[in-house]
Amino acid sequence: MRSIFNSRIQRPQGVSQTLVVSVIYLLLGTAVVDADDTQQYDAEFTATGELVRPSGWREWIFVGSPLTPNAQNGGEAPFPEFHTVYIDPESWEHYKDTGEFRNGTMFAKELTLVGDTAATSGIGYFNGEQQGFEIAHKDTERYSADSDGWAYYTFGHKPEPYNDTTAAMPIAACAACHTAAAAEDMVFTQYYTILRDAKAAGDDAAGIGGKE
Ligand code: HEC
Repeated sequence: MRSIFNSRIQRPQGVSQTLVVSVIYLLLGTAVVDADDTQQYDAEFTATGELVRPSGWREWIFVGSPLTPNAQNGGEAPFPEFHTVYIDPESWEHYKDTGEFRNGTMFAKELTLVGDTAATSGIGYFNGEQQGFEIAHKDTERYSADSDGWAYYTFGHKPEPYNDTTAAMPIAACAACHTAAAAEDMVFTQYYTILRDAKAAGDDAAGIGGKE
């Protein structure tokens, strides 16, 4: 900091000190704002190639909340929880603009147990406790064409805290079902109204909630 000011003191003749100080504040201010605003959503890996659990996914873009309750699956649903699905904000912008999932796209899926089954609004399914966290990540350079360039990670089918890092799941365990049944580029867009409405719609995307 001191060195910046010192170097500016040897300014050309005719440039007022106020102007120099203003410019310095402007530059410093911009740098600070950039550091806060420019969040990166690129996946991070450990030295052994495990994916690091991203932080802040509950502030990503919500795309859907499928539910496969035990009550409708003979008590044996593989995932009896609400599945709350989010896309990282950078990939959401890209999808709105292009209608495609960019390399680097991450979907987060958090599982939430069914809690109460009755409320003043009626009989139904209400959120209980968190019960698991998964990521789908697209990178056609990193992952095999056998899974269309996607990999699937589970950070635990259990209450928080979720695992911090995890290895990609075998293709047969996750990707195969996505290949067989997902509507668009391994993603189950048939269940995500928000994504379908936003596809290549740019800033007019209905998914952004009636924003003018
Ligand atoms: C038997 C089929 C099947 C298998 C196996 C499967 N999934 Fe999925 N997955 C789905 C369906 C259907 C959806 C969308 C609706 C939902 O959440 O139920 C989905 C959605 C997802 C999503 C949200 C993004 C998207 O692609 O729609 C993630 C993340 C995900 N799965 C991760 C995994 C992981 C991790 C595994 C392996 C542990 C896995 N899945 C195994 C069927 C499957």
